[in-house]
Amino acid sequence: MKMKKHILAAALLIAASQPLKADEGMWLPALISQRIGDMQAKGFQLSAEDIYSVNQASLKDAVVLFGSGCTGELVSDEGLLFTNHHCGYGYIQKHSSVEHDYLKDGFWALSRADELPNPGLTVRFLERMEDVTDIVLKGYKPARMSEDQRQALVKKNAARLREQAVKDGQGLKASVEALYYGNQYFLFVFREYRDVRLVGAPPSSIGKFGGETDNWMWPRHTGDFSIFRIYAGADNMPADYSPENVPYRPKKSLKISLAGVQEGDFTFVYGCPGSTQEYVHSEAVRYIQDVSDPEKIALRTTRLGIMKKYMDRSQAVRIQYSSKYAGVANAWKKWQGEEKGLRKNRIVPVKQDYEGRFEAWARGTRYEGLTGRLAAVYAARNPIYRAYEYYNETVRAIEKLQMARGRGGDLKDYYEPIDRETFVALMSAFDKALEDSYKPAYFIEKRALYGTMEAWRDAVFASETEAKELAQALEEHFQQNLVPQVSAFTASLNLLYRDYMQGQMEFEREKTFYPDANLTLRVAYGHVEGYRPADAIYYRPVSTLKGIMEKDNPDIFDYNIPQALRDIYAEGGHENQPVCFLATNHTTGGNSGSPVLNAQGNLIGINFDRVWEGTMSDLVFDPEICRNISLDVRYILFTIKEIGHADYLLEEMRFAE
Ligand code: ARG
Ligand code: ASP
Repeated sequence: MKMKKHILAAALLIAASQPLKADEGMWLPALISQRIGDMQAKGFQLSAEDIYSVNQASLKDAVVLFGSGCTGELVSDEGLLFTNHHCGYGYIQKHSSVEHDYLKDGFWALSRADELPNPGLTVRFLERMEDVTDIVLKGYKPARMSEDQRQALVKKNAARLREQAVKDGQGLKASVEALYYGNQYFLFVFREYRDVRLVGAPPSSIGKFGGETDNWMWPRHTGDFSIFRIYAGADNMPADYSPENVPYRPKKSLKISLAGVQEGDFTFVYGCPGSTQEYVHSEAVRYIQDVSDPEKIALRTTRLGIMKKYMDRSQAVRIQYSSKYAGVANAWKKWQGEEKGLRKNRIVPVKQDYEGRFEAWARGTRYEGLTGRLAAVYAARNPIYRAYEYYNETVRAIEKLQMARGRGGDLKDYYEPIDRETFVALMSAFDKALEDSYKPAYFIEKRALYGTMEAWRDAVFASETEAKELAQALEEHFQQNLVPQVSAFTASLNLLYRDYMQGQMEFEREKTFYPDANLTLRVAYGHVEGYRPADAIYYRPVSTLKGIMEKDNPDIFDYNIPQALRDIYAEGGHENQPVCFLATNHTTGGNSGSPVLNAQGNLIGINFDRVWEGTMSDLVFDPEICRNISLDVRYILFTIKEIGHADYLLEEMRFAE
């Protein structure tokens, strides 16, 4: 173990000292000193301590994990927070009705008393993070312990660390996360605030301008922001919602820069990327490209078609299903870009070639044969994993069956005709795609009994017992057969990847490694730059209000802007109002809402998306084509003033000279 750690440390150190060719990477803030030289060489003007410090207020204190999968940032000393409109969407929707449609019309709290509480919504500040590998692996005897024993040990040691870390209470939460497939472990200690109120949101015709049509695309003109405020007890500590609570006073809030961006400018993104798999085997990529993405895309095309049909007929249904639709459509479209990108860039053969070179190098070492063993596990896993994914995308996506198990949504947002049609479509797809061995006996019996999916559907929607029985039979089969098998495969893969990861670091000593994203706080840095999506096309990196007017069309839902915006534009002088910009920062899902900062650490934008041609960046980052999309902070200010008439919010913000 000592030996192995040594090699890993050496590999990490060598990797860290290399200049970056491209702007790939999501770096741990606590280790940013290893990258600060490169950042400064590229234009950054602050120090590592300004990014992350446990002794003094630093930029990390202005960044939060918003809800369970977005990022937000503090923009005033009174707890005011920016995140994306699509991150606040579910909450904005919950406060909406046909009479008060905040999704459609926007929402602006006129006073603190008007700010709307959101039960269940939390934000987490990172207090500290530290390498705890030695403590987590204390007592580990590689030669004498099985993987199961190692896992049990890790679990026990991590639990003790977490307990110690949160013993002061006061909203402290802790997690121990494996990095590099368990070659390294980090402890993260957070403080979680649970009274977070909605302060402002633009109408969806701004906040979601372009809708699903423009999602994952450039040129983009979405004003994707919403504003919340964190409340605390009188002691500034986390408290349950109470009208007595007061605005949270952050250790640090961001200054807003009005200077704007130019192509080539240094930028960095500070946030919580959710999940990437940059070091996986070619078979993992091949499965995603040839099986998983195409099949899931087809299933979601069906679901979306059904939802859309009913949403187009009724405004009430549109409100009920807008959030669900956006969620289903988002991954659906991303997978299409990802599949295309993987093929176009021939990632499978590129990885296979890499594996060939790796094996040639590994001959005679402890790494020999690893890539073949990984391929063998994938071959055995894939059919089962496919069934697992099918369950998730079909039977577990039928609301009736979810509700019959006491899960799933609010009845307020339920429209049965959609679900009835979805039931027939998804159950038929499930039945057709999977062999009977993947289905419970109950399913096979009832299928024979009812004869058609329509007849079965009528029975399920007419009888709670029938619904419950079916839901339980399917879920039981899923939990008892598929989940354990998938977990076992994941464990074998992780074990092999732990070695393969180390092997890759030794094989490519000149390469810069960073841990895959896992929703922990990271820094990505790069610069403002356009890209070439296809032959003969260059996309410039900045979009403007002029482009919104070019897209404006009252007959197309996604492009129908508020009349107020047309009127303002007609006054003249706003043609060049910046809206969005592109940069080369390496981001992924979870980075939505992340602050985009300039060389001085001031806020220039909010990250909200990536370009479609580059969505394969969760598997391979191509510096030529992978771009993150940010909302220019000046368009936020413009919208607050001109559309929301909520200028009073600007008074508490701070602006950089
Ligand atoms: N694609 C962005 C992300 O992955 C934005 C998603 C929300 N917007 C939408 N039109 N569905 O989250
Ligand atoms: N839109 C994504 C999010 O919600 C960001 C991305 O995938 O680039 O986090």
